Amino acid sequence: MCKRLLDRNAVVTGAARGMGFAIAKALYQEGARVAILDIDEKGAAGAANQLDGKNGRAIGRRVDVTRKSEITQLVQEMSKLWGGVDILVNNAGGGLNTPYLLDQIEEKDWNLVVDVNLKGTFLCCQTVIPEMIKRGGLPGRGSIHGGQGRGGRVDPPAGLRLGKGGDPGQCRGADRNHDRRQNSNHVERKK
Ligand SMILES: NC(=O)c1ccc[n+]([C@@H]2O[C@H](COP(=O)([O-])OP(=O)(O)OC[C@H]3O[C@@H](n4cnc5c(N)ncnc54)[C@H](O)[C@@H]3O)[C@@H](O)[C@H]2O)c1
Repeated sequence: MCKRLLDRNAVVTGAARGMGFAIAKALYQEGARVAILDIDEKGAAGAANQLDGKNGRAIGRRVDVTRKSEITQLVQEMSKLWGGVDILVNNAGGGLNTPYLLDQIEEKDWNLVVDVNLKGTFLCCQTVIPEMIKRGGLPGRGSIHGGQGRGGRVDPPAGLRLGKGGDPGQCRGADRNHDRRQNSNHVERKK
């Protein structure tokens, strides 16, 4: 690894296991500090410990991405510990063990999948991106509305676009709004 992410602070949601943990590990190995968020509190703590031991470059916290107050609290903690956030990976989601077949899916299953995948991504972007802007990564341009300077403001339609699955253009829309490099479900400040 080339340590291309030294002095960067990353948040990965749903990272106690699976793809989220693999992403967190890759970011860590590139030199980033990593916050591992998951509704599985023990899993998040164990994953952080597995990456970093007690070196202070990884933390694992119980954060439900569908609860804005929990995301806000985490962001505040990251600001205190590491000075802010640079990278957000909206990984939490997927089918969440709900049935595959239409006639077996209950309303509560649909609500869960939409809440975590769509609302969770929206809330994380809404809470974390302003913190990324504070770290200085946002040029004062990048509106989807004709390239006029918008000073980093979030255009109202962005809220409708954020979240994978809700609209194929959503994350790219968030990227354009914030002029960040964007790869389907993560947002990173530009160098
Ligand atoms: N596994 C695949 O083949 C595959 C392929 C393409 C995309 N993906 C996407 O990758 C992501 C992760 O997939 P995976 O297979 O590793 O999933 P997984 O089920 O193994 O892990 C998901 C993690 O998210 C956590 N989580 C669930 N609800 C949460 C919430 N409300 N707040 C915070 N954390 C929560 C779970 O506790 C779990 O640790 C998903 O968004 C999925 O759509 C997966």
